[in-house]
Parts: sequence; C-alpha cells; structure tokens
Amino acid sequence: MSAILLQNILFSYIENMQNSSFRMDINLEIPIAKWVTITGDCGSGKTTLIKLLAGLLKPGKGNIFYPDNLNNDIGYIFQNPDNQFVHFNIERDVAYKLENQGMKFSYMRPKVKKSLEEVNLWERRNDSPNQLSGGQKQQLALAGMLISDPQVVIFDEPTSFLDIVARQKLFQKTRKLVNEKRSVIWSTHEEDVIRQSDYVIELKAGKVSFAGKSRKYLCRKNV
Ligand SMILES: Nc1ncnc2c1ncn2[C@@H]1O[C@H](COP(=O)(O)OP(=O)(O)O)[C@@H](O)[C@H]1O
Ligand SMILES: [Mg+2]
Repeated sequence: MSAILLQNILFSYIENMQNSSFRMDINLEIPIAKWVTITGDCGSGKTTLIKLLAGLLKPGKGNIFYPDNLNNDIGYIFQNPDNQFVHFNIERDVAYKLENQGMKFSYMRPKVKKSLEEVNLWERRNDSPNQLSGGQKQQLALAGMLISDPQVVIFDEPTSFLDIVARQKLFQKTRKLVNEKRSVIWSTHEEDVIRQSDYVIELKAGKVSFAGKSRKYLCRKNV
C-alpha cells in the first residue's frame, strides 16, 4: 500500500451539540513519498485533518490506515511554534527526541550541532527558546522535528513566521526529504507552495473538494 487511507472519517469537536456546526466527513487516500499540500479557506478543517493524521484527535467514526513501513514514524510542527518546546535550553530542546530514543551523547552531539547549524542557531544553543524571534522559533521547531528523520513530516502552515531565505531553505529541504522517499504533508493557503508540491487536497467546510495532482489543481483554479 502506497497511501495513507482515511476511510469514512467523521469528526466533530463537540459530539451531539448543536452549536458546533463544523463536521469533518472525509474519504481520502494520501499518497506517500510525495509533497502533499492541504489547502482550503480558513476554518475549512486543515488543522483538524492534520491533528487526525498525527493522532492528536480521534475520529468519531472511521479509520486511518498507515502503510506498515511507516511504523508510526510521524513528525509534525504546528502553526504556533511556542507549543512545541520542551526545554529551556535550545541544545537540549533539539536533542530531546534523540535522548528519548536512548542515543548516546557522543553520537547525539554532532547531529545536534549539524541540525542547529542548518537553521543558524548553533551560536544560540545555550539560550532559551523563549528568547528567539517567531521565525527562529519555527526554525528551532523544524530542527527538533527533523533530527530524528521521521518517515512522515507534517507541517501546519510552517511559513507563517519565516523570512524569504528560510522559506526557500524549507522548500529545498522538503524536496530533499521527498527525494529520499519520505512523505511531506504541508497545510497552506499559499499558491507558491502548492505550485512546488506534487499533490493537492483541498478542503471545503470539512469535506474534500479536490484531491489530485497539483498541476491539475492549478489548471482548474485558474480557468
Ligand atoms: N478545539 C476546537 N473546538 C471547537 N471547534 C474548533 C476547535 N478547533 C477548531 N474548531 C473549529 O473547526 C473548524 C475547522 O478548524 P481548523 O481545522 O482549525 O481549520 P483551518 O486549519 O482550515 O483554518 C473551524 O470552524 C473552527 O472554528
Ligand atoms: Mg489551521
């Protein structure tokens, strides 16, 4: 199986309550080893879908099937990077996932250094994440997520605080991950992200309104 399957998924935030009109109702196949964008208006359900994929929300009905080889190896970063930090020290924060895997310090140190250098934060390693700017926090969250090489990488609007240079680097990094047969799922409303991606899922009010190749999506949208 080369896709993540979402079968007859139903989800609402407050079951059986009338004031919660949002209801997610989807059937979807998300191709793996591709750059997939999830797009749609504000409130269409992008973040909800991402949280379902990451296992942070449970569907009321239906099932999500991941290919066996992905082995639940999912990394995600959220729109607000403040929620991601676990340490008051940047170096320890980036090392956290590797520490959890029980990696030896001598193996860990060079990996941590490389990750932090990639996002220009090695010099800041002894500072607290709280001392960083919004863009730097997002970069730190990225470094901390990518350090363990997850098979599936999920970004929820990761470019919201990034400057042009950091954006370009993230585009390159994403393409590199996909070339290495990893899956990137990226929620965005930006057309230049969609343009560079392979596959688009568009949501409208909790339902899938388009799923297909990016080229086809852009073609339909611009006629
Ligand atoms: N924790 C929550 N409780 C109740 N409703 C929520 C919650 N989070 C999001 N919603 C509602 O669910 C809908 C979809 O939100 P979301 O998935 O964040 O959309 P998007 O990411 O596309 O902007 C919106 O109507 C939003 O108000
Ligand atoms: Mg969102």
